[in-house]
Amino acid sequence: MQTVHTAAELRAALGGQTGVAFVPTMGNLHAGHVSLVELAKQHGTPVVASIFVNPLQFGAGEDFERYPRTLAADCKKLEAAGCDVVFAPDVAEMYPVPQTFTVQPPETLANDLCGACRPGHFAGVATVVLKLFNLVRPRIAVFGNKDFQQLHVIRGMVEQFNLPITIVAGETLREPDGLAMSSRNGYLSTAERIQAPQLQRELSAIVAAVETGMRDFDTLAASARRRLNMAGWRVDYVAVRDAETLHPPHADSRQLVALGAAWLGRTRLIDNLRFSCTGA
Ligand code: PAJ
Repeated sequence: MQTVHTAAELRAALGGQTGVAFVPTMGNLHAGHVSLVELAKQHGTPVVASIFVNPLQFGAGEDFERYPRTLAADCKKLEAAGCDVVFAPDVAEMYPVPQTFTVQPPETLANDLCGACRPGHFAGVATVVLKLFNLVRPRIAVFGNKDFQQLHVIRGMVEQFNLPITIVAGETLREPDGLAMSSRNGYLSTAERIQAPQLQRELSAIVAAVETGMRDFDTLAASARRRLNMAGWRVDYVAVRDAETLHPPHADSRQLVALGAAWLGRTRLIDNLRFSCTGA
């Protein structure tokens, strides 16, 4: 496995290859990230992973500075997973001049759910992912369903800009108690870590209620928010949406997703569960 830090080194490492499978990350890798590399490997092409904590997608006062940077440990995990090239640029390499051209997802998407609580976040994500795509020139790029709205933004960007890239989605890997793996789980105190799977349990409760015929999604989401608030969480949102469009479900919506984002102390956790709805 080769680890490179500049665009020029990346070009040399790729040697003109354009058929690679690509896994973009911000590092501090866990088994969820590794599963995406394994999924990328299944396509039989060389795999490139990137590690870059992207300042453009962090708001003022968010955790850009304290986001864990663990390059050596990450490279060991990527090598063990069969990754061929790691691209780990620094901020000056990715943004040699101020990034005044940016990719703006449509407002309805950019300002919804996570975007409503993190203004500019999805423009920052879309912009860095487009830059990474242009540097790596993959044929396939793998993203996690864990960041469901992010995946939706990337799919929309690829479609509307005619990018010649197939987006592949990987399932969310979880800890044995149901907590979705996340680089941010490391911020949790012992007590918070014990409490953290509640977010996933509340989303499961919504899914279970819909499966027994409940269709009042707003009431279900409000109950989940209330229970989380009572347990000491600060809830950004809990919502049920159409999984294809991310819009509020309509009568014909068959694939739904229950999504939530909430704070435990200083840690913001997100999760989602997709499920089928057989109609009212
Ligand atoms: P990061 O949070 O490091 O996540 C990198 C990829 O891993 C994303 O596609 C994310 O959905 C996926 N992922 C995270 N947790 C996962 C889990 N428990 N199981 C499976 N996959 C999981 O998402 C980003 O970085 C950035 O926004 C990025 C796309 C790299 C742009 O900066």
